[in-house]
Amino acid sequence: MPIRRVVKHGERVLKTPCPPVDFAALAPRLPALLRDLWATMEAARGVGLAAPQVGLSLRLAVVDVRPEGRSRRLVLVNPELVWAEGEQREEEGCLSLPGVYAPLARAARVRARALDERGRPFELAAEGLLARALQHEIDHLDGKLYVDRLPFEERLKVLDVVKRVKPGWA
Ligand code: NI
Repeated sequence: MPIRRVVKHGERVLKTPCPPVDFAALAPRLPALLRDLWATMEAARGVGLAAPQVGLSLRLAVVDVRPEGRSRRLVLVNPELVWAEGEQREEEGCLSLPGVYAPLARAARVRARALDERGRPFELAAEGLLARALQHEIDHLDGKLYVDRLPFEERLKVLDVVKRVKPGWA
């Protein structure tokens, strides 16, 4: 299970919207790719990881927010939000911006649609941390990082910290 390098803020693939996955074309290499994504996410102690964060421009992400301390792995192929409502404001972070966190407003409740690891369509209703993680990962697939959603002043503060953290990025 190779752990891959997590692409960091400033690398172009994170800014590039990912084209939809052709499931049949990806299927032969999907199991190995998912093993790498899970291994990489778990090694970094993240709750989600999107394919562009390992350098692959694919609409594919994994999420596990460990509800009640137990693993609940979600594979999201071509995910999209179909509904969102309410607001939550919590600290958010990203494995592509290690060591940096900022409070960010997100929808409190969402409904997402995607294909699972076998290509079957499903819908998922989520709130709280899972709703936040889904929005965060879908943003990655659209070429956006959470800092792009911060108000201008807060974004400057965060990017100032990023400048200091950056030399140590692996
Ligand atoms: Ni992220």
